[in-house]
This record gives sequence, C-alpha cells and structure tokens, in this order.
Amino acid sequence: MCGIVGYIGKRNSQEILLEGLKKLEYRGYDSAGVAVYTANGLQIQKAKGRIANLESKLEVAPLEGSVGIGHTRWATHGKPSDVNSHPHTDNSLKFSVVHNGIIENYISLKEELIAKGHVFVSETDTEVISHLVADLYEGDILKAVQKAVTRMTGAFALGVLTEYEPDRLIAVRQASPLIIGIGEGENFIGSDIPAILEYTRNVFILNDGEMAVLTREGVELMTLEGNFISREMFHVDWDIVTAEKAGFDHFMLKEIHEQPKAYRDTMSSRISADGASVTLNELSMTVEEIRKISRVHIVACGTAFHAGMVGKYVIEKLARIPVETDVASEYRYRSPIITKDTLVIVVSQSGETADTLAALREAKRCGAKVLAITNVVGSSVAREADDLITTWAGPEIAVASTKAYTSQLIAFYLFGLHLAQTLGTQTADEIKEVITAMKALPEQVEAILAQADALKVVAEDMAKHDNLFFIGRGLDYAVALEGSLKLKEISYIHSEAYAAGELKHGTLALIEEDVPVIALATQHELLEKTVSNIKEVKARGANVLGIAVEGEEELQKSVDSTFIIPKTLDVLSPALAVVPLQLLSYYASLARGNDVDKPRNLAKSVTVE
Ligand code: F6R
Repeated sequence: MCGIVGYIGKRNSQEILLEGLKKLEYRGYDSAGVAVYTANGLQIQKAKGRIANLESKLEVAPLEGSVGIGHTRWATHGKPSDVNSHPHTDNSLKFSVVHNGIIENYISLKEELIAKGHVFVSETDTEVISHLVADLYEGDILKAVQKAVTRMTGAFALGVLTEYEPDRLIAVRQASPLIIGIGEGENFIGSDIPAILEYTRNVFILNDGEMAVLTREGVELMTLEGNFISREMFHVDWDIVTAEKAGFDHFMLKEIHEQPKAYRDTMSSRISADGASVTLNELSMTVEEIRKISRVHIVACGTAFHAGMVGKYVIEKLARIPVETDVASEYRYRSPIITKDTLVIVVSQSGETADTLAALREAKRCGAKVLAITNVVGSSVAREADDLITTWAGPEIAVASTKAYTSQLIAFYLFGLHLAQTLGTQTADEIKEVITAMKALPEQVEAILAQADALKVVAEDMAKHDNLFFIGRGLDYAVALEGSLKLKEISYIHSEAYAAGELKHGTLALIEEDVPVIALATQHELLEKTVSNIKEVKARGANVLGIAVEGEEELQKSVDSTFIIPKTLDVLSPALAVVPLQLLSYYASLARGNDVDKPRNLAKSVTVE
C-alpha cells in the first residue's frame, strides 16, 4: 500500500515530511525515506524498518531545504531493505520519485532502459520511473512525467522532484490515492488527509488520470494529457483520528470498504491483458515440479484457515489435485504424511503466526515444497517459504480480518488457475470464463457495500440474541465458518457454523422459536438440498436470513428475509457472500457497544503457540 508525502514552501521540509510519514505509517512500515532539495542539490536519506530508524539517521545528518518528498513503504516488488526503499533516483542522481502502487509493465520498461545504458540498483518497480523520467527529460519536468506515464501501466500515485527545477513538485494519481494540501506560501501532497492535516485543512482530491504541478505560490491541476482542470477545494473538518480512518468510524469498516481495491491490486498484474490467462511470475516452481505434485496440504489458523478451506475446493475443482486442510496448531502434532511430492501451502495475513510458522518448518523438514500466501512481504513466513504469493491488501489494522481474507481467496483463485493452465485440467474457454468473472468481483463487492444500511438493520436485531447459527453446503459451509468466527470475535455473540446437512445429527436440538439462522445458499447444484435444510430449521421456529444469488427467487419463499449478492460463478461466490457477513458482524458489534477494532482477549498477530 505505501504512503507518500511531499512539501514545497518556506519551512524546513524534513520535519514536515517526517511528521506526515508518521501519520501514514499505518499504510506500511517496511522502510521509509525522504529526498530534499538542499544547498548540495537533491539529497536522499532512507532506512529499512520503522520511520524512527529514518529519523535517527536524519538526526545525525539532517537534510536542510524547503522542498522534499517522503515515503513509507509496504514492500511489494523487492524485499524490505535500504536499497529498495523510496525515494528512488536515476544514475545522474538529479531526479527523485516516490510511488504508491504497482507498475505492471516494469520489467519490459527496465529492459528497455538497461539497453539504453541505465544501471539499476534495486529490485523495485519504482526505480524504473525515476530512470524513465530522467530518460525523457528535455528541460521540462512536467512534460517528462507526462510522457513517462503514457508508458506505464498499473497503479501509481507519484511525487516527482528534479534538481534542475527545484521550484516545482509534480504529483500524479492513477488508481492509487493522492491528495493535495493547500497552504499559504506552501503546498503539500499526501496519500491520505492525515499526512497534511496538521498544516492545512484545505485540499484538492485528485481523481484517477489527474496530476498537479505544485509551486510555493499555487497548484495547477490537469489531466495526464495536460488539460487544465478547475476543482472546488474540499475543507476537511474531521479530527485527526477520524482522518486516519479515512472518515470511517472504525478501521474494520474502512478495511471492509477497501476490498474492491484489494481485489484489483491482488489480481490485476497477474492477469494477462487479454484476460485469457494468469501469470504468477513470482513463482519459482517449474512445470516439471507442478506435474509432480501428488497432494496439497493447506495449513493456517483462524480466518486464514477458512480461506484455505475455500482454497481446497478451488484447487480440487480447477486442478484436480487432492487437497487436505489443517489448522496449523494441529498439523505438526498429528504426524502428517508429507512427501517430496507434497506441496504445503501456508496462509497467513501477518506472516508471523507462531503455529503457521512451525507448520511451515515441519513441512520443510519433511522435504515438502512450501508456498506461502501472505500479506507481509518481509515476514518470517514469506522469508522461509520456497515460494510466495503476496496478497496486496495493504496493512490490516483491525484485529478482525476482512480484506486480508478476501485477498487470500483471490490468491487461491489465481493459483488454482495457474495449476489448471499448467496441467491442462481446464480448457482455455473455462479459464477465461473464471477470469472474466473474477474481474467483475470488485464492482460486485461495491454493489454489496452500497446496501450496508439494510444489513445494519438486520444486525441490530441479531445483536439482541445470544445464540445464532450459520448454515451452508460446500463452499457456503466454508464461508459460514468465517461468518461465524467474525461474529463471535467482535460481537461476542455465541454462534456456530454447520454444514447444513449435518444439523439433523445433533445441533437441530438447539433450534427453537426465534433463533436467528443465516443460511448461505449460493451454490446452484446444492440449492435444493440447502432449501430442505432451511425448511427443517424453519419448522422449529428459526428466523432465517438467506444469502442468495441474484435470480434465485425460489429461495426467497423459504426464508424470512433475504440478502441478494450479484451473480457470479459458484466457485467465486465466497468472495462476495462473505462481505454481507462481515458487515453484519461489524454492525452487531457496534450495536452491542463493543470495541470493534480491538476485541477483548485477542491480538492482531499471534506469535505464541
Ligand atoms: C480473525 C483473525 C484470525 C487470524 C489468525 C491467523 O479475524 O484475524 O483468526 O486469521 O490469527 O493470523 P494470520 O493470518 O496473521 O496468520
């Protein structure tokens, strides 16, 4: 995710950049850096780790100057290290760039620039931008940046400085957020409002495809093609705490709303331009190695384990390889059968969960290859696994995982398709059909989020109950488990998730008048069976909320109320069906007056066994 900040004015920019970065640290803290125009030209200082490390370096060797850019990094391309930190520069050291986002075509651009004599020092996609801008510079930084962005695909918010024109700071926004702060005799850029709120409350919010030229005296807004835009200034009346949550009441709600972006970020650079195939360039696994995989073990904890349950279904369906799932705390003690042909997939948002890490080590000890799906590039799990698929959900702050879980689902879809392509278990048309439906998911999630108010009403009623049940079959059962966990952990309502057909073997005894049951019914082949189970609980007095797919009017006759999710392929429905469940948990927790972001007894990262 990363945070960027920039200043042009009369004050000491180093202080302002550092303060701004501290406000953006929630966006990533793998490393930080600043570039300041000083009496000795453009000078850069950067440091791996938290902003405090950068601050210590700057205390020893301050950068004096009133124009600068800064960055706090959430590693995507290239591990966390000093050299991979931003700002990046070119070989002349005259240009400096901070970037938030992903340049999808950076490899081809890098090859082109290397052929022209540019020498690269980092593993990042961002370094390409500084070289590209330098390469295109003919005396006008604005024109050079405009030309550069026409060559770049992907997501980017940029701050660009050159020593040749120290009175101009260029800002660009394309699919990554950026705002401009307007002061008196000074102007600012920031990934987010908190970065500049201490200095000004007047901002321009850039839209995708827009850029700005900042000087001390003013700001010119324009499209990337250079057509000037006039925009009304936005006056921010939030306090700093609200601003950090981008106006949402809680980080959890913010993160639920960030899911469309997390989906796009996690999948976009891994899907070919024609939408016909996936490319997981980051994997070192050869075709030969993939062909040899005889079984897959998916190992994780909590919500990540629930993502793994969806992963099992996805891999078995798309690639026809047998998959077992295990919670990590059980895995290593049950003496699992692990051979050299076993692929062990560990899933972990933080990449630091002690049980998951121990399972990874056990799998490696037994000779298996380990693939990690994690949200934190430099984490222990990421470092120790043989292969890595990073979920680009950005930092998750609320203890209850939402966008990390759904991004893990996307990672499983991508990996399942990658296996299917390699093994030939799906036709080209079938693969394209799944990819096409995946590309529609972000907008479909947005459509669900737009109905949050209706879910709030249901949740407020749920909050009055002490017991609740989730039921579903197949993939719906995996989502039911996640919905139930989410509800328990933040609302403290006791809930259980059941494979719908299993109820009658015991749990049905708990169903009585007015007990809320959330029935997931998104799997077309299982719909009739699920409806029978719904009738069983209805007959005992349950109050049933059905989660159904658009067009399934039949189900609506069997339940008390329905929440409809947009049409998608059955295999993809978890990526939509979980969203209303997240919102129900959120609003139920709120209705009970709980601390939504920090539920009792829980921690974000569980580093003890
Ligand atoms: C629940 C939740 C936890 C985590 C679990 C594993 O909302 O977040 O169940 O999923 O503690 O954590 P990671 O994914 O960091 O390994």
